[in-house]
Amino acid sequence: MRLHVADHPLVAHKLTVLRNERTASPTFRLLVDELVTLLAYEATREVRTEPHPITTPVTDTVGTRIADPQPLVVPILRAGLGMLDGMTRLLPTAEVGFLGMQRDEETLEAITYANRLPDDLSGRQCFLLDPMLATGGTLVASINYLLERGARDVTAVCLLAAPEGLKVLEEAIGERADVKVVVAAVDERLDENAYIVPGLGDAGDRLYGSV
Ligand code: URA
Repeated sequence: MRLHVADHPLVAHKLTVLRNERTASPTFRLLVDELVTLLAYEATREVRTEPHPITTPVTDTVGTRIADPQPLVVPILRAGLGMLDGMTRLLPTAEVGFLGMQRDEETLEAITYANRLPDDLSGRQCFLLDPMLATGGTLVASINYLLERGARDVTAVCLLAAPEGLKVLEEAIGERADVKVVVAAVDERLDENAYIVPGLGDAGDRLYGSV
């Protein structure tokens, strides 16, 4: 598992406004969108490309284009949806799948309650969107789900991560697969309710309200 923290003053500034409890939903949504676009630039650094011959007004040349099969972007419902536009703005040719994960209250394991993905992900580069890497349970289950269906590599794009969740991910994935995590910041810790500290609260609620 590889970790990339997007160390940039614009990311730090936008994240600070996002964390502020006085930032209301409309601004929060806009900032998530902007932050994800900045993270998407880092997350797509290893997107697969191929040579592409074109003719400019001056001459023939060989450029670059994103190779087939096109990357797959997968927001994890519900909060991951708030990250989708920011990601597809930079990857407009990507396909989009959806994954709904929730915790089974008896086993405490993350289970899939909704899935709209191609059955066969052979050779696919996948970008998982989940704003908060807290305990790591949802992300590990989602990454395993994609790898079991043949995904070639998985990049998780998150706004914030807790060290506890990163450790869980490292232990679960290790060197077994090519998995990368791109985050705006790694925070201090989880609290007793598994909220990231200092964090930004419940990302889904702040995006969409507490329904
Ligand atoms: N999910 C959230 O939305 N916020 C946290 O702090 C942890 C998990």
